[in-house]
Amino acid sequence: MSNNIYLNMRKSIILIPVLLLCFSFILQSIHAQSQAPPEWAVCAACHTIGKGKLIGPDLKGVTERRDKAWLYSFIRSSQTMIQNGDPIAVQLFEEYNKIPMPDNNFSDEQIDGILAYIENYDESAAAVMEQPTETPSEDEATYEEAAPGLKGHVKYGPGNTQPTFIIFLILIFVAIIDLVFTKIIKARFIHIIIILVSVFVVAEITYVEAKALGRQEGYSPDQPVWFSHKVHAGQNKIDCLYCHSSATESKSAGIPSVGVCMNCHNVVKNGKKTGTEEIAKVIEAWNSGQPIEWVRVHNLPDHVWFSHAQHVNAGKRECQECHGPVETMDRIVQVESLGMGWCINCHRKSEVQFEENDFYKEYVHFHEEMKAGKRSRVTVDDIGGNNCQTCHY
Ligand code: HEC
Ligand code: HEC
Ligand code: HEC
Ligand code: HEC
Ligand code: HEC
Ligand code: HEC
Repeated sequence: MSNNIYLNMRKSIILIPVLLLCFSFILQSIHAQSQAPPEWAVCAACHTIGKGKLIGPDLKGVTERRDKAWLYSFIRSSQTMIQNGDPIAVQLFEEYNKIPMPDNNFSDEQIDGILAYIENYDESAAAVMEQPTETPSEDEATYEEAAPGLKGHVKYGPGNTQPTFIIFLILIFVAIIDLVFTKIIKARFIHIIIILVSVFVVAEITYVEAKALGRQEGYSPDQPVWFSHKVHAGQNKIDCLYCHSSATESKSAGIPSVGVCMNCHNVVKNGKKTGTEEIAKVIEAWNSGQPIEWVRVHNLPDHVWFSHAQHVNAGKRECQECHGPVETMDRIVQVESLGMGWCINCHRKSEVQFEENDFYKEYVHFHEEMKAGKRSRVTVDDIGGNNCQTCHY
């Protein structure tokens, strides 16, 4: 017995330094992360620091291999340098399949900020914080995986079920007429069975259709261009915010314009899965000045108010919490119901991020209760997030 306690004590003593190490690791990594200048978000779509090449080269050690003046003009306009025949720029351009790096209208300070970030970046520390960004395994992610058990909804799409619906309605009608008036069929249980079965089918169809119209869980419409999030956000690791840039500051996340696609596709003209066919549609849209008419997938009714900035920026929610593993989807599918119960449940569970959040200066009493130890957490529900008028106009 006493031997056991002794052993446990020894174990705990070993644990202390391990815990301390982890702790300092996490602190360090938070530090490393917080230094990223806002401009870096753009670069991160195409570059890593020490994690290999994406669309552009790995920028680790770039401040050593190029001089400062070169970096200033390359980051501002690599294409100008290439046109002027700068040998290094031309060689890089060739090496990277002539993918042009977009121009940046940055001040010296902004570029200095980025270069300092690259220089001081600590990969090992940052790895602890970052979400896994490995290329997802090559085996196909099917829609069932993304939205388990939701296949089959599609076949109930409005239109398909209409004939069945009407046939069974007529059956009910005929059965009632015969039961009460014409009395051609003598055995009454036949009427009853017909009516019961028909009512069941009609109710089932009504229910499924209502669901498919209102909350389109599992909804995954055809799009005008075969655009794959798996290819872009998964395999090529392009940041969600590169294309949905308004998600952090406005109500909607936004869909990128053709111009954003052309940053890369005026050069990348061939896809592994679709060859030139689909990318040609993008280029054609650009040349003709026509927008691509994407079909909207997620859609709340007009009487509900929802803001991406509130959730992504203030609430620090990940896109995937509400949209599922988008980076594995060749085709976007709605994985959550977007129903009222879904919103309310998450508000009951989720704590509000009070630290360093100006949104909540007004809730002083919560701060005081937390300081006094009377309260350990404040949920979205606590601050009125589940009052009707918070979400309804
Ligand atoms: C759309 C993709 C893309 C974006 C966004 C992008 N780059 Fe690049 N970058 C490239 C490509 C591709 C190259 C290789 C040269 C070429 O093809 O012109 C490159 C090359 C570079 C180089 C030269 C690397 C070397 O080894 O000498 C630097 C430095 C650089 N980029 C910095 C940046 C910075 C800083 C940002 C953000 C402000 C940024 N890039 C944004 C695609 C991009
Ligand atoms: C290269 C640009 C690009 C990147 C990167 C990108 N998206 Fe998209 N996204 C699009 C386009 C274009 C559409 C519209 C076509 C479609 O629905 O597939 C879209 C549609 C969506 C939709 C559905 C919108 C609707 O109609 O309801 C969601 C959700 C979404 N993206 C989330 C993400 C997330 C999360 C990431 C990062 C993991 C991401 N996207 C990365 C371009 C991009
Ligand atoms: C708290 C849940 C939640 C989070 C987190 C979230 N979304 Fe959404 N998203 C929604 C809802 C709900 C809609 C439908 C909004 C509507 O119809 O007004 C939507 C719609 C969209 C759309 C369609 C166009 C639009 O803006 O309405 C895109 C694109 C999108 N989200 C991308 C993203 C990306 C990228 C992220 C991460 C940066 C993200 N979302 C984070 C819930 C969320
Ligand atoms: C930051 C660079 C970048 C941006 C922005 C970008 N793409 Fe791509 N796209 C790529 C790369 C890289 C590939 C992969 C080519 C390959 O398959 O090797 C690709 C592939 C494709 C393909 C072919 C997929 C296949 O495998 O056959 C299509 C279609 C496509 N993109 C459409 C779009 C559309 C539409 C947009 C704008 C909403 C867009 N892309 C924005 C870099 C980009
Ligand atoms: C994944 C969890 C999650 C889901 C799902 C979610 N929310 Fe939220 N919501 C939050 C968090 C966390 C906050 C608090 C953000 C902050 O700290 O400012 C919030 C805040 C809000 C606020 C502001 C509340 C206030 O009093 O300031 C509104 C409005 C809101 N959400 C609407 C919705 C609607 C509508 C839906 C469903 C379509 C929804 N949310 C789904 C997590 C969620
Ligand atoms: C956190 C956000 C949120 C709050 C708080 C909220 N609702 Fe809703 N409500 C929604 C969403 C989202 C929908 C759309 C549901 C759908 O389309 O399936 C909705 C739909 C409705 C509908 C339409 C019926 C339906 O299912 O489409 C009514 C009525 C309603 N809400 C009443 C209320 C009342 C009353 C309260 C206060 C007790 C309230 N809501 C609070 C988000 C919210």
